[in-house]
Amino acid sequence: MTEKEIDQVLERINSWPRLAFLHLPTPLEFLTNLTEIYKGPEIYVKRDDLTGRGFGGNKSRKLEFIIADALKKGCDSLVTWGSYQSNWCFQLALASRRFNLKPILILFYPDKEPENEGNLLLNRLLEAEIYFSQVPAGKVVSRDFALDKIKEILPELTARNLHPYIVSVGGSMPLGSMEIPLGAVSYLLAFYEAWRQAKNRGISFSYVIHASGSGATQVGLLLGTKIFSPKTKVIGISVSDDKAYLAQEVKIIAEASIQALSLKIVIEDEDIIILDDYLEGGYGIFSPKVTQVIKLLLQKEGLVLDPVYTAKAMIGLLDLIRRGFFEKNDKILFFHTGGAPALFAYGSQILSQ
Ligand SMILES: Cc1ncc(COP(=O)(O)O)c(C=O)c1O
Repeated sequence: MTEKEIDQVLERINSWPRLAFLHLPTPLEFLTNLTEIYKGPEIYVKRDDLTGRGFGGNKSRKLEFIIADALKKGCDSLVTWGSYQSNWCFQLALASRRFNLKPILILFYPDKEPENEGNLLLNRLLEAEIYFSQVPAGKVVSRDFALDKIKEILPELTARNLHPYIVSVGGSMPLGSMEIPLGAVSYLLAFYEAWRQAKNRGISFSYVIHASGSGATQVGLLLGTKIFSPKTKVIGISVSDDKAYLAQEVKIIAEASIQALSLKIVIEDEDIIILDDYLEGGYGIFSPKVTQVIKLLLQKEGLVLDPVYTAKAMIGLLDLIRRGFFEKNDKILFFHTGGAPALFAYGSQILSQ
């Protein structure tokens, strides 16, 4: 893309409503000890666990746009869904409350009624309105299933004179009240932020690696690399779905983003790199490797990984290094997408591994 075209894209994004309530830019750090231990490529981390407001994380970046969109549309509440320990749901509830919107959450749980721990504790303290629904363990619910649950509660919300803004899990898929994939757009800007920090330090990344769940983070990073750093490849480590399914989701969000931003970019199938080898049993299920990697990063780098997302992404990164996937002179950017509160909900499960 030419500089003029890049300016036009940034201008377009900057013309959309956005509430600045985060601590940006987040730091870009070199992981000295991890790089030394693995004797492979240089490993850097983008500290999006420090986006600020309620323990940080990737969802807050998305919510800067989404909450602004809800306010612009005159809504007084937000409705979404996720797992009972969903970081997205907590961050949405937090941002909603801050801007006087009512958070309404449909939370899915396996097995027994969840304890008020981690993100659920925080949602209780925020006095989010919560509707629970039981589902099988290890999987995330389908979009249709979740939308049906929303349809069930909508008449009651309307009867209470609420004007809800409906947004998909992760703020990813354009549906409900969000026509533009605002979550992905926020991650295009996140890559731009990281790319500028790296450029100032004379670094150029060969790969970006991150935890991929509902797809918008991956789309944003992918579009960002295409625009600012076309040689950089993005690898999404799936935490929930098989790679064929997630690739399709990424494709849909990417196409909608390209259209919304009038980008002159084509995302080929081979651009969408997703690995589903590190599910470790499925969404929200843990293995001894999860515990080991959390300990390693905490002890060697003082980084807190969460067991559901970032630990699995880090397992993937370290396995790729071990298997010689990267060149020694590659520079890798691990996007730390947050998730710390969930760690405190799974203490005994993690320690028993
Ligand atoms: C900590 C963390 N990392 C990564 C992700 C995945 O982001 P996305 O849903 O945009 O793929 C999530 C989503 O919930 C998350 O909470």
